[in-house]
Amino acid sequence: MAPKKTILKALAGETQATPPIWMMRQAGRYLPEYRATREKAGDFLSLCYNPDLATEVTLQPIRRYGFDGAILFADILLVPQALGADLWFVTGEGPRLSTITSQADFDKLGPADEVHETLNPIYQTVRNLSGALPPETTLIGFAGAPWTVATYMIAGRGTPDQGPAHALKSENRPLFEALMERITEATIQYLSAQIDAGAEAVKVFDSWAGSLKGQDFEDFAVAPTRRIISALKEKHPGIPVIAFPREAGDGYIGFHEKTGADCVAIDNSVSPDWAAEHVQKDGCVQGNLASSHMVTGGDDLVRETRAVVEAFRGGPHIFNLGHGITPDADPDNVQLMIDTVRST
Ligand code: CP3
Repeated sequence: MAPKKTILKALAGETQATPPIWMMRQAGRYLPEYRATREKAGDFLSLCYNPDLATEVTLQPIRRYGFDGAILFADILLVPQALGADLWFVTGEGPRLSTITSQADFDKLGPADEVHETLNPIYQTVRNLSGALPPETTLIGFAGAPWTVATYMIAGRGTPDQGPAHALKSENRPLFEALMERITEATIQYLSAQIDAGAEAVKVFDSWAGSLKGQDFEDFAVAPTRRIISALKEKHPGIPVIAFPREAGDGYIGFHEKTGADCVAIDNSVSPDWAAEHVQKDGCVQGNLASSHMVTGGDDLVRETRAVVEAFRGGPHIFNLGHGITPDADPDNVQLMIDTVRST
């Protein structure tokens, strides 16, 4: 039998001499081949919904760098769109959606089990990838966590402090909770279908978890993630889940146990040594080199990459950035990072 894939080994709790590597937003605008394919598709959303081209951009960083993991090319905001929200991207600014601020707005959304109609092309991309990836590469599916997705659905765009979502949470709690519930159910459906199509692990991105404090963090970051994971584990017991409660700070402590996640992804607002001591003791961690090193490169990149590898050496670890690689990154710096990880 072929040796188990390195990312799956890490997710199963194995400590390895060299950590497997992948990178958030590894298929993205820093790569000329990505920009060319996106141009061919017309725009970002057309690329997401075109299984042939989405397969192609997912494979590009695997061909160029030989990453150990391939992440499905899609976006967390396809779920709101599949629930009936309008979605479009403004070049240079980011996503725009129809807003949800009243019961009437919420009532226009469709049921969670009807998201597949819109999302079917994404499952086709997963099936394509499942047959096209090298045997050693792990196929990772993903979705946004309910709180992060809700912040975009409520505000209709990205916001620096998630103010509109916090406001709805305190001014109309029943509506806020109904929205969280609908997103949670849709996310279970979506991830489950990705797994049926061939995803070997899935990741739940809670990019704005850091703005939830105290009990809110427990109720709206921990609890929905736990529900998603337990529903997935029931249907697909062998499929590992990576949770990313970005900027959770002390909230990272105990996150494996509270949610049932097989791996907790760490951003770079906490140090690797701190995360090794407080989070990796409970299971696999993923992270957490600052993505700015992919822009600046040089000796700093090498030193900090080594520091991440050394800090997590004593336990299960998947090397990654603390957040997505940015469009201004230099593709050569990515190669330098990989070479450094594999020679440390
Ligand atoms: O990581 C990967 O390579 C897989 C694909 C992926 C994308 N978005 C493609 C994308 C993944 C996993 C995401 C997740 C995502 N999308 C998150 C969570 C992770 C995070 O970054 O915090 C969020 C918050 C979104 C929503 C989103 N999508 C925003 C805010 C933006 C605009 C900001 C930006 O970087 O332009 C996007 C667009 C987006 N999603 C791009 C890509 C490659 C750039 C679009 C383009 O090509 O113009």
